[in-house]
Amino acid sequence: MPPLKIENFIKNSVLELSAYKVNEVESDEVLKLDANESNYTLGKDIKKRYADFIKDTLINLYPDSGSKNLIRLLEKFYDTAVENFIFGNGSDELISIILLSLKKDVAVKIPSPSFSMYDIIARYNDLKTELIKLDEKYFDLPENINADKDKNSKKIFFFSYPNNPTGNHFNRDIIKSLLENKNNIVVVDEAYIFFSNKESFIKYINKYDNLIVLRTFSKIGLAGLRFGMLFSGDKLINEFKKIKLPYNINSLTLSSIEFFLNNFGEFDKNIKKTIEQREKLYSVLNKFDYIYVYPSDANFLLIKLKDKKLKNKFDKFLKDNNIIIRSFTGDMKLFYRITVGTPAENKKLADYFKNFKKDFTNML
Ligand SMILES: Cc1ncc(COP(=O)(O)O)c(C=O)c1O
Repeated sequence: MPPLKIENFIKNSVLELSAYKVNEVESDEVLKLDANESNYTLGKDIKKRYADFIKDTLINLYPDSGSKNLIRLLEKFYDTAVENFIFGNGSDELISIILLSLKKDVAVKIPSPSFSMYDIIARYNDLKTELIKLDEKYFDLPENINADKDKNSKKIFFFSYPNNPTGNHFNRDIIKSLLENKNNIVVVDEAYIFFSNKESFIKYINKYDNLIVLRTFSKIGLAGLRFGMLFSGDKLINEFKKIKLPYNINSLTLSSIEFFLNNFGEFDKNIKKTIEQREKLYSVLNKFDYIYVYPSDANFLLIKLKDKKLKNKFDKFLKDNNIIIRSFTGDMKLFYRITVGTPAENKKLADYFKNFKKDFTNML
């Protein structure tokens, strides 16, 4: 039998992609600071109470995402009505739902650099993506973004707020000016807002019917549960409800979120610690003259090697020492994103960076 001709079935936009690669951890000795997770684990007491709470979850039935207790807790937590939100299996799934719903003539505008999934998902939905190059000094949106020659063409903007991987917030007034034009839909992805002192855009969903806000619990210690939320006015949300798979969030996650919303103090504590550690790590790394360190309002720091001659040595050094941080390619190849870890991890990282300086920078 002849082999399957895959190109006869699978669309080009999928054939052209490479699968998303997650860094594999091969040993316990690895310093893993690449995925913007929280490296704080649950305390003994809360872990026990959590196990007690979820043990009665009814896994024989389909999940009930309309559970009154959970809805009441979420409405209170986000100060929003249930009519204005849907759940996603991580906010990744919600990005996918948004992009799945769009007409092909809507341009997807994505800052560069930003979170890679906006571009990847748009591409395999055969949507046209247009990158908005960010200026390397402040990584902010261009002032003239709204003075587009073609104000009548339909666009959707994705703004990670704060932005991954740069750590800054885009200018709020620019975002608002884009919302004033009803040829635009604006997605404000607040995955990292727990670590910033900026106000959420959720309160504007009833003012702007072209606004979508995304939130997730992944960055504060619950990445494994896969739970994200999408907020918007009724026009958009009614359409997204039609595409969302009926039982996309499993029962154990729903029970877990209910438990953790009732015990949020645990996360508040870790968020505060992460912010303190971020500032500490920033000032320690900032002393090394072979890198620039960018200020951040998120749970990671972006750094850049000052000299391109260091690139190969630095990559080898990271590999030899089992340090996993996020590296980039193309224009961004001198940049690395470091997740803020626990105090012990951050100290270990800073010590490694000190050794690198001793070993290599004087050779330049
Ligand atoms: C900006 C941004 N949005 C969304 C996500 C996805 O989060 P989730 O784990 O909720 O799918 C990430 C994860 O890295 C992110 O950086």
